Amino acid sequence: MSSSVTSKNIKRYTVTSALPYANGPVHIGHLAGVYVPADIYARFLRLKNRDVVFIGGSDEHGVPITIKARHENTTPQAVVDRFHEMIKDSFEKFGISFDVYSRTSAPIHHETAAAFFRKLLEKGKLKEKENEQFFDEANQQFLADRYITGTCPHCNHDKAYGDQCENCGTSLSPAELINPQSVLSGHKPVMRKTKHWYLPLQDYEDMLKEWILEGHKHDWKSNVYGQCKSWIDQGLQPRAVTRDLDWGVKVPLDDAPGKVLYVWFDAPIGYISATREWSEKSGKDWEPYWKDEQSKLVHFIGKDNIVFHCIIFPSMLHAEGSYILPENVPANEFLNLEGDKISTSRNWAVWLHEYLEEFPGKQDVLRYVLCAAAPETKDNDFTWKDFQSRNNSELVAIFGNFVNRTLVLTHKYFDGKVPAVDNLTDSDNQVLEQIARYPQTIARSLENYRFRESLSEMMGLARLGNKYLTDSEPWKIFKQQPERVKTILNVCLQICANLAVLSGPFLPFTSQKLFKMLNLETLLWDQAGTGDLLAAGHAINKAELLFEKIDDAQIKAQTDKLYSTRIANEEQQQEAVEPLKEDITFEDFAKLDLRTATIVHAEKVPKTKKLLKLTLETGNDQRTVVSGIAGSYNPEDITGRQVILLANLKPKKIKGIESHGMILMATGNKGKLSFVQPDDKLPDGGVVS
Ligand code: 2FM
Ligand code: ZN
Repeated sequence: MSSSVTSKNIKRYTVTSALPYANGPVHIGHLAGVYVPADIYARFLRLKNRDVVFIGGSDEHGVPITIKARHENTTPQAVVDRFHEMIKDSFEKFGISFDVYSRTSAPIHHETAAAFFRKLLEKGKLKEKENEQFFDEANQQFLADRYITGTCPHCNHDKAYGDQCENCGTSLSPAELINPQSVLSGHKPVMRKTKHWYLPLQDYEDMLKEWILEGHKHDWKSNVYGQCKSWIDQGLQPRAVTRDLDWGVKVPLDDAPGKVLYVWFDAPIGYISATREWSEKSGKDWEPYWKDEQSKLVHFIGKDNIVFHCIIFPSMLHAEGSYILPENVPANEFLNLEGDKISTSRNWAVWLHEYLEEFPGKQDVLRYVLCAAAPETKDNDFTWKDFQSRNNSELVAIFGNFVNRTLVLTHKYFDGKVPAVDNLTDSDNQVLEQIARYPQTIARSLENYRFRESLSEMMGLARLGNKYLTDSEPWKIFKQQPERVKTILNVCLQICANLAVLSGPFLPFTSQKLFKMLNLETLLWDQAGTGDLLAAGHAINKAELLFEKIDDAQIKAQTDKLYSTRIANEEQQQEAVEPLKEDITFEDFAKLDLRTATIVHAEKVPKTKKLLKLTLETGNDQRTVVSGIAGSYNPEDITGRQVILLANLKPKKIKGIESHGMILMATGNKGKLSFVQPDDKLPDGGVVS
């Protein structure tokens, strides 16, 4: 088992970033959550001269991809080919410095994932089990994961999927859905027997407890540790690792036609396949990166992937027996956009490929903003106004302004040659002492995955330089004290050179530009921290602007674009009317005991966004009903409202509260819910029929 990082002498690093699904482009939420921090980390390690492989690739299996192909009347392969190329290209242009960007439809991946499965099977680590699963008779197909929808048993959301409810975030299994419906035919599915292979997660409970709950209590982020603890505390269950589908890695057995590996079984193995692909190209041996105890494996992911990377994949690796476990999984929370959840289907997103086209040469601005506003400990918001102000008042006004003034003055007074230090004053020495501390301070934050903090520390150096230059006012004293100005500009130039090194992980394009302007070969991290990076007499190149102001018109164009697609979507939504459900008999309807009732008290259910706990007067009793209406109503506004209650719905625990019934709500645009209410105030307990 992997021991704590502090006791290990690390020889190499395996840094992975979640493999994006190749069924859509990458947006700023993906970037802020995963790829920007992962890239900063990998670049930092390279600058520290560490041996590192940085892994990326497309996740090309799973039901959403086959559903998309059906909608577009094309093949899953055509879908993933299109998006794989697009994602790969935009990552490259954005400066995400993968050592390899692979894909899970690659033969090397199919081979690696199949071999992994076979090894687990041979070691007796997978259990074969037959059970009944939903089957669509019209399409003659089992309905795995997202091929089935229905009502969420936890929040009553009526479009929950067979694997998850996106409204309340709960993981589901298809059998839990109320009113299950096939996505393919719209019909109610039947149950049919099928055989699958399961990973008995409960067998790894002790290992996981020791490794995570005891071993990583203090070095893993609390959001990650907390999710793991809650999964482990709830008791782990066997997880099916195969599906009845025709798109995916085929189960490598003769008696398993029509069966593939579950996408969440094959995708993380994709990290290993990608490392093998890299190894073939680079000539380096891949195995130590995954199997040597002195390697440090770090997974960068978003919070929705925590269980897969902290519980399931490590159990798979442990079961296989020859792999190390991750040292850390620094998962981020989610990034919102202009106060609203990023949504691919509503086109509420800033897409990377569009940004690259609309802001050419401004990769570092987005990298900067996404790191500065990264959702490290809680969900955070991206706004175009904030983007503009961080660019204009931080990158332009501090970093860019300092570098530009320093270089322009060096050309003006000293013909572009680094002036020699004349005499260091106390304040110069203080500045030099501060410079010396930056590499270590920033490194400490980066090593602890505190990217926002490390970025602000790096900017602290730019601020220090800017203030030193402003306070020293060389332009005022040049005539009287040219010797003093030599010292000032020498110190400023040394700060610029330090910035070129230390900005490298965060602002790689800027760092390169700055090295070029300083006419300096790229330096390593540990060379920074001194005032001797540039020798006296060294000729620098012409000053160019590192950053440019972004004006209001550019920002307005972006917000207009965002809101105009939202309006178009809403209009579309207004037109889209939900298709009717299957016929039922009057007897079916008569089973429902619908009553008038009045809300006498309402309060939010703690730690949920959508749920209210209602106390209802029903005429017969006062009872508690948990209702998913907090997105549409404030608790303080609804006491006294009369509602229609489905009074004989079996009681059910929702977030630990027993709910006795359900109130009827009508759905409006954007999922806004509205009470179904009698015309006049009626006595409570009246029958609705
Ligand atoms: O959530 C996602 O986007 C997944 N495609 C991440 C997979 S990560 C890894 F396991 F491949
Ligand atoms: Zn739900």
